[in-house]
Amino acid sequence: MRAIVLLVLLVLLCAVVAGPTAATPEVTFNREIVPLLQQHCQECHRAGGGAPFVLERYEHVYQRRDKILESVEKRHMPPWKAVSGYGDLLGERRLSDAEIATVARWVAGGAPEGAPGDRPAPRKFANAAGIAAPDVVLRPEQSFTVPARGGDLYRCFSVQTSFDEDRYFSAADVVPGNSKIVHHVLAMVDREGHSAHIPSRDGLPGYPCFGGPGFRIDGYLGGWAPGARPWILPEGVAMLLPKGARVVFQLHYHNPRLTAETDRTELRLRAAPGPVQRRLRFMRVGQFQLRIPAGEPRHAIEAGLVVGRPMRIIAIHPHMHLLGREMKVWAKASDDSVTPLIYIDDWDFNWQGFYFYRTPVALPVGSWIELTAAWDNSAANPRNPNKPPRNVYWGERTVDEMGHAAILYTFEDETADQPR
Ligand code: HEC
Repeated sequence: MRAIVLLVLLVLLCAVVAGPTAATPEVTFNREIVPLLQQHCQECHRAGGGAPFVLERYEHVYQRRDKILESVEKRHMPPWKAVSGYGDLLGERRLSDAEIATVARWVAGGAPEGAPGDRPAPRKFANAAGIAAPDVVLRPEQSFTVPARGGDLYRCFSVQTSFDEDRYFSAADVVPGNSKIVHHVLAMVDREGHSAHIPSRDGLPGYPCFGGPGFRIDGYLGGWAPGARPWILPEGVAMLLPKGARVVFQLHYHNPRLTAETDRTELRLRAAPGPVQRRLRFMRVGQFQLRIPAGEPRHAIEAGLVVGRPMRIIAIHPHMHLLGREMKVWAKASDDSVTPLIYIDDWDFNWQGFYFYRTPVALPVGSWIELTAAWDNSAANPRNPNKPPRNVYWGERTVDEMGHAAILYTFEDETADQPR
């Protein structure tokens, strides 16, 4: 009798286990996984794409299948820090729930390769150079070597320009010199040349800079992080590089390797093709005095500013340091209608960049741009650089904090003969 019960149970169990596999077709690498990797991963996980390994050949993907599944289920990959649906952002990277389920089924089914005939042709990626024939190329005077096992290193390089007039550029493309170690790059304008006087302190090219370049910047000229595209501004809009200005490159290097690696990153600029109607401007919304008490698990702030001239927001760049946890920015019109701009609910200092809007966001006079941000200064925060926690103040060093969003925008009422 007992044997029969056991047998029945066993049969039932087999039916349950076999059930779904029998009903749903097998997922194979060649048929389902390759297209998914091509669409969502290979932009970075290919040679020169900026990610630490390539996801192209079956053996390599098979080896990493568990990590791959974990990274997509937790939505760590593809990296995209902005909360989906909050702000109409360009180039959102996101797997659908169905795509995640496909990866899960592939791994659960033993991660088979499938028939060679099912495999699509390799995806072709445009050359690293987004701007084919740049009018101007700027780069640091010397290359920089990041030592073996250098971990994270933040370095600024100040470059003197020598144009005899103000220059306007409509597109910018930062091209990392060594994609194995460059994690992100910002190119900034230093009109007065203050950066020339910041000491290197170690005799190496450039100077150390973690959360900021060490002077008040006069604008941005481009940026890069893995997967980033060139900055192409709307027609008639251009970035100003004033005569005699310096351009400062802020580089975040990451070198966990056993060998030293050398980089010389460059900035390619395309001159504005026609008359410049609107200059790309920037402003910051946030707080520039902070005191985040030691041990405080959620220190929150609010900030805002009123729009005094009709404007259009083109891009946004949230900025906090290691203790940052969340930031939300929105615009409120005088009739109380709200336009979401960006929401990051799991801040990661390693994944910051400029987010461009699919269509520039028009804000009439009288609108408010509002921002909330929060930090975790408790001992439970694994990213807390102070052990035990200390009071943290506003500043640019690793142990300081910042809390603002830089906003790239144009004024609607600006005219061609008076773009400044
Ligand atoms: C925008 C560039 C980019 C895209 C797109 C991208 N990755 Fe990554 N990935 C990286 C970088 C850079 C790292 C190194 C770790 C880091 O810097 O966060 C990484 C690390 C990883 C890791 C190891 C770390 C971890 O989280 O376990 C896995 C696995 C991974 N990626 C899988 C994928 C998969 C699968 C996709 C597509 C669904 C994908 N990635 C898309 C840039 C990218």
